[in-house]
Amino acid sequence: MIVLVGFMGAGKTTVGNLLAVRLGLPFADSDQVIEDCAGRSIRQIFDEDGEPAFRALEHRVIAELLDGPELILALGGGAAEHAGTRSRLGSVQVVYLQVGYEQALLRVGGDQGRPMLARPGLAALYRRRLPIYTEVATLTVPTDGRRPETISEEVLVRLARVPAADGRTPSSRPAL
Ligand code: S3P
Repeated sequence: MIVLVGFMGAGKTTVGNLLAVRLGLPFADSDQVIEDCAGRSIRQIFDEDGEPAFRALEHRVIAELLDGPELILALGGGAAEHAGTRSRLGSVQVVYLQVGYEQALLRVGGDQGRPMLARPGLAALYRRRLPIYTEVATLTVPTDGRRPETISEEVLVRLARVPAADGRTPSSRPAL
């Protein structure tokens, strides 16, 4: 089980899909699973039920996915704020894809399907979440200015699932 966390626009879904292909594992995106379960878009769930109901559903869906078969799982950017979800992440590999605030906005700013982007205090939300991502992460990978393929390869090497491109074994590599 590899779980990807990070702010909106970090590339969790894109990188997660690449990792899944490379590792021959299924991929799931918690937002997609929520939408499939609810039969409604994330936007509709926020609009009709409110954020707390969305967060409760998000936690349930993630807990079920974590109880299920091995997979690569991308979490919504706010999922790790839920204490129950955080405690469930203690037993799996958690990759934090770091994205700068400006870069995140360049990638997803204005997306109507992401209701949190329209909230006042988005920069404060971003700052509040950074230590949470760091807390749950077993591996932190910067993404600004980098291609998803490069990021995915770095994750694989650093999780020691594949040998480094230079042939060194994980044990002979300096800690990153
Ligand atoms: C959210 C991020 C979204 C989605 C929802 C709320 C957030 O996921 O779960 O719109 O609170 O940051 P992505 O991080 O995949 O955009």
